[in-house]
Order: sequence, then C-alpha cells, then structure tokens
Amino acid sequence: MIGYKNNILMCEDIDIRELTKVYGSPFYLYSKNDILQKIRFLKDIFSSLDDVLIAYAVKAENNLSILKMMVEEGIGADVVSIGESLKYIKAGGDARNIVFSGVAKTEEEIKKSIELNIKRFNIESIPEAVRINNIAKELKKRVKCSIRVNPNVDAHTHEKITTGVNGNKFGVCIKTIIENSNLLKSLDNIEIESLSMHIGSQMTDAEPFYRAILVMRDLINEVNSMGFNITDIDIGGGYGVRYNKDHSGFDFDKFKNESINLLKEMNLKVTTEPGRYFVAESGALIMRVEYVKEELGRKYVILDGGMNDYVRVAMYDAYNEIYPLVKRESVSNYDFVGPICESSDFFAYDRECSVVEEGDYVALLDAGAYGFSMSSNYNSRPLIAQVMADKDKHYIIRKRQTFNEMIESEII
Ligand code: LLP
Repeated sequence: MIGYKNNILMCEDIDIRELTKVYGSPFYLYSKNDILQKIRFLKDIFSSLDDVLIAYAVKAENNLSILKMMVEEGIGADVVSIGESLKYIKAGGDARNIVFSGVAKTEEEIKKSIELNIKRFNIESIPEAVRINNIAKELKKRVKCSIRVNPNVDAHTHEKITTGVNGNKFGVCIKTIIENSNLLKSLDNIEIESLSMHIGSQMTDAEPFYRAILVMRDLINEVNSMGFNITDIDIGGGYGVRYNKDHSGFDFDKFKNESINLLKEMNLKVTTEPGRYFVAESGALIMRVEYVKEELGRKYVILDGGMNDYVRVAMYDAYNEIYPLVKRESVSNYDFVGPICESSDFFAYDRECSVVEEGDYVALLDAGAYGFSMSSNYNSRPLIAQVMADKDKHYIIRKRQTFNEMIESEII
C-alpha cells in the first residue's frame, strides 16, 4: 500500500514527506493494512485444509508491534533462537504455537524451550535429536519434534538462500533418516510427530514446492511403515514477492491447485512458515538524498541510509525499486549509493528514475522483510527508527537508537 497519488508517494493515506518531518531520516516505514492483507490472503489459501498452523518466520522482522499483529491474527511463530521465542511471547504469543528451527540449538535454548512448553523442535541433525532427548529426560518430559528433511529439490532461487539441496547445511538427508531410524525410535523422550522441510526463500515458481511435498509424502509413508507415527507435515516458507514490478510474484494459483490439493489428499496436519511474504511489500526504507555527484559521466545519488540499514543488495544482489517521494517529470539514470566505506554499499546501478536533488527523499520499496532485522551498527551508525502507518495515522514502533545506547555495553 505504498504508491503514488498525484506524483506524491503515499503510504496508506499518508504523504510520506510529512513523516520525514516527524521522524527524521533514515527510517523504516510499514503499512499495517498491507501486512494484514497478506496474512488474510495466505490464511485463505490454506483454508480448505482442516488443521493448519501458520507459523510466521520471526527472523524476517521481529519488531514487537509486528509480532503482536501476528498474534492477534492467530499466527504462530517459527523461531531460530530463544530470543525470537521470548519476543513472540512478549508480544502476547502462546508458546504452544512456537516451532523451533535452526541448526545450532544450544543446551540452554533447548532447556528453556522445553520449560516454556513450545509446540515442537524442528530437528536439523541426528546429534541434535540425541541432545534434545537427553535434556528432555533430565527434565522428565517427553517433547514433540519434527525432523527437518533435506528433500534435495532445487528451489530455483538465489544460491545464498537455497536450503533444500544436498550440500546445504540444513536438515537431514533422507538416507541419514532411514539409516538412523532405529536410533531415532529408541529416543524415548522425544516424539517425532512431523517431518518438515524448507527448500528456499523468495521462490516464485510453485513447482519445487509440489515436487518436494511429493518427496516428503513418500518418505512419510516409508517411515510410518517402519513404526513411526507421523501426523504432521511442515512445508516451511519461501513464498516469493514482487521486488521487481515487471516480474511476477509467487504463483499462488498453481500452489493451490497442486500443493494444497496434494496436502488435502495426504490428510495430515500442516504447518507452514512464511516470513518474507507477510512483511516484505509492506515496508519501505525512507532515506534522504545527501548529495548528487557526477563523475566521468555517472550520476551518483548519495543517500543517508546504507548497507548497514539494508544489506540485501550488497549480500544477495537483491533488486529493490527506488521511488522518490515526489515524482518529477524528467528522468535520469543514477547509481544509488550509501555512506558506508565499502564499494558494495549501493542500492542500484544505472537505474532510471525521475530526477532527484539534494534534500529530496527516496523510498527503497519492499524492504520490510530481512531489512531492519538484518541491520547493524557497522560504521558506528545507530540503528534506525521503525514507523507504522495505519490509514491516516502513524506511530513509532521502534525509536531511533541514540549514540549512548549504541555504546552502552562497551567497556573502556
Ligand atoms: N522456515 C525456515 C526453516 C527458514 O529457514 C526460513 C528462512 C523461513 C521459514 C522463512 O522463509 P521466507 O518465507 O521468509 O522465505 N535473509 C535472506 C532470507 C533468508 C531466509 C532464511 N530462512 C534474504 O534476505 O533474502
């Protein structure tokens, strides 16, 4: 819900220029109603299944206000650290709706999660299964688990965010599961009720999902015939969004026709773990144009926000649209760069854009997922503010970090 109205960029019913006067720059801006719309859309996609847990991948954006929205919409949490669990619970979430993924769960995290009574651990290795079993035994508990399977299906996405092919560090290969089935069955303090997968992020094609679920179906049948009692399938997240407005997003029609129908036939409980889909398009990074400089025929727009605030372009060659808050008639081609002392600190090369001048503001669109949550203090830059828009109202959901807050845990 960020778009132009009479050449002025609006978020919901708000002229974003007004927000720069209130909150300074740079800051993240989110559209509340866009997030709600995405949640409700996905709920509808899964509505034909009987027993579904939609567990938001908290890593995508973990602001308490956003987590509270998830809780209010009945959304669970997929977490990868105890910190994420505690944030979800702090936002009002019920621990019984938390699934704990991640390859390196520590003893302390496992113990605390058992005490919190989370729904399930998504186990990523055989040694982890043994460790969870031992800790559960000490606590005299029997805990529910899923084995995260590496189904060896290529998700056709960026190599740094593909997770479900052999050679990734994630999950357990099918062969390893079969070879260790007796060991897994002998672990009395864990109950393996589910098999899970997450084959990659930012998928636009729904077909790899379908192929991976077919692999999972065969594996579930196989392990059940070996004496397991798998009653749930966790299909992970990965639903892609339209970063480039000339491209299409995730093919939900195909997903519904193929994957949802297949899941219906399988007649299991279903978990899914969307992260990016819920928040990416709702968020924009608003930045001020500090300078426009011209060198050897190139025009650089130098912004006050950088790769420490939004690292995805530097890290994954990500594409994000950049819209000036005021669209002028003439256009030019620019390199949009940040202030960080790294050549990789840029947001776009040679991008056609309506003319911008020093003192203008621009919005980097679709920055709501893995934006603020991956930001850092690199170059001693305080973490920036987060602001929520709701129709014609706006409010701060995270204050800009001060210099003192940035250095307070350091010892001199
Ligand atoms: N479940 C598991 C086990 C995951 O590892 C992930 C993401 C998700 C769910 C959520 O995936 P999503 O629906 O957001 O695609 N920082 C990268 C993305 C890393 C994703 C890691 N795992 C980026 O900015 O593109």
